[in-house]
Amino acid sequence: MTRAWNNPLRDPRDKRLPRIAGPSSLVIFGVTGDLARKKLMPAIYDLAHRGLLPAGFSLVGFARRDWEHQDFGELVHDSVKEHARTPFKESVWNRLAEGIRFVQGTFDDDDAFDRLAQTVKDLDAERGTGGNTAFYLSIPPSAFPVVTKQLARSGLADASDDTWRRVVIEKPFGRDLKSAKELNEIVNDVFPEESVFRIDHYLGKETVQNLLALRFANQLFEPIWNANYVDHVQITMAEDIGLGGRAGYYDGIGAARDVIQNHLLQLLALTAMEEPVSFAPRALRAEKVKVLSATKPLGPLDETTARGQYAGGWQGGMKVPGLLQEGGFAKDSTTETYAAVTLEVQNRRWAGVPFYLRTGKRLGRRVTEIAVVFKRAPHLPFDSTSTEELGQNALVIRVQPDEGITLRFGSKVPGTTMEVRDVTMDFGYGHAFTESSPEAYERLILDVLLGEPSLFPVNEEVELSWEILDPILAHWAKKGAPEAYPPGSWGPPSADEMLERTGRNWRRP
Ligand SMILES: NC(=O)c1ccc[n+]([C@@H]2O[C@H](COP(=O)([O-])OP(=O)(O)OC[C@H]3O[C@@H](n4cnc5c(N)ncnc54)[C@H](OP(=O)(O)O)[C@@H]3O)[C@@H](O)[C@H]2O)c1
Repeated sequence: MTRAWNNPLRDPRDKRLPRIAGPSSLVIFGVTGDLARKKLMPAIYDLAHRGLLPAGFSLVGFARRDWEHQDFGELVHDSVKEHARTPFKESVWNRLAEGIRFVQGTFDDDDAFDRLAQTVKDLDAERGTGGNTAFYLSIPPSAFPVVTKQLARSGLADASDDTWRRVVIEKPFGRDLKSAKELNEIVNDVFPEESVFRIDHYLGKETVQNLLALRFANQLFEPIWNANYVDHVQITMAEDIGLGGRAGYYDGIGAARDVIQNHLLQLLALTAMEEPVSFAPRALRAEKVKVLSATKPLGPLDETTARGQYAGGWQGGMKVPGLLQEGGFAKDSTTETYAAVTLEVQNRRWAGVPFYLRTGKRLGRRVTEIAVVFKRAPHLPFDSTSTEELGQNALVIRVQPDEGITLRFGSKVPGTTMEVRDVTMDFGYGHAFTESSPEAYERLILDVLLGEPSLFPVNEEVELSWEILDPILAHWAKKGAPEAYPPGSWGPPSADEMLERTGRNWRRP
């Protein structure tokens, strides 16, 4: 069989062809951080391994340590060996290592940014990066403005007619609508909107992109994807770990800002949006903007939201500290580690359907899923005892782990009597496809180098998401400490009551 990439008859616009980035370099700020070591540098290696980076690709690390190029090279080497998805190959590594450089400095050091500008220039001359550079801000959000301004001051942000400069910004993008607007202004003063890539790494996940295929490539689901058939939607991102060592980032931020504002609202947008006219970036983002504009908190907020903070106790046979005992957190911290909200998408398709979004740390299991729960059949022509064990039909998109889709429906229990019970039908990526899914950061870094913005939220999406969340955050700010919940549980009692009040229950994935 002729493979897609070496078939001369195939149209070069064919979306199945591997896309290889053009000449370019990537500068990472915050290279000693967790994200850079565990995700970014391994993803760059994986892209190199798959042959998706250009020949002269160069990687520049910027950090305050007093390092030489080879010290940084060692850091990249070790993080690749430990965390890369694809096997370590000396030949791939050696090629990548030739383009690795390090610049030492702090964010307020003009000289350091001038040296960085010179390094970027030298790399173009030596390795033919075409003057095209992406700047990845893998740094504390408080440093986004100063680094953006330094990029402007040093001329690093200046593109020309035939070169590009792009900036990649990690979450969280602001801490409320006001600060997000201020940050957008600073960033857009320096980079035009099409050069700004705000990362929401959930959008880089295969399972999330598959939501679009599931909805829009099939005839089966779309006719019932509305308030006539859907009872409610539950979007969950649960983690079983705590926040040890992350106080600097998390204290005062909390679960809603950390996860609901970005990941969960993006999942809601993809679940609820109308079919885009195409998958062109503008068309896709326009639909997300439309659906986020129609999304509002459903009140009263005391009954339709819940927040909690994990207490100390036992989890999986281990004694674990509560948040207030974790190093670095204020002893009276009111930061929530669990948040649940009820939203409504106020349009013809969804009016009246609650969207329940929840996230938390130290919960029973690590799982992210979208569950579309359908209404009961309007009439059951069985004795009531026959359907006692019949729940509601549900379509569950398993985002992680165990990526796939589950359909739950009622089936007759074998035997001579009529008894109907829930069964599930499963699609698992691991079973259906032989190739493993790329890591989200692999896909997203490649998209940045290719200038392909579809999977990156635009500033309007970010601002709309804060508009949805701000009234809830303001409501919580007026209340005292969040309710405590035991480690390994599924959140505080008020979260259960929030659904029980409407005759529903959270799924226990
Ligand atoms: N970790 C994740 O999984 C994850 C997931 C999603 C988003 N994010 C976001 O990604 C970004 C990075 O996260 P992270 O977990 O990697 O953070 P981190 O471990 O705290 O690393 C922060 C990095 O920034 C550098 N830095 C801080 N202040 C600096 C200064 N004044 N001058 C120069 N360098 C400075 C640190 O360098 P030193 O080593 O010299 O201190 C370090 O390399 C954050 O915006 C975070 O919100 C992280």
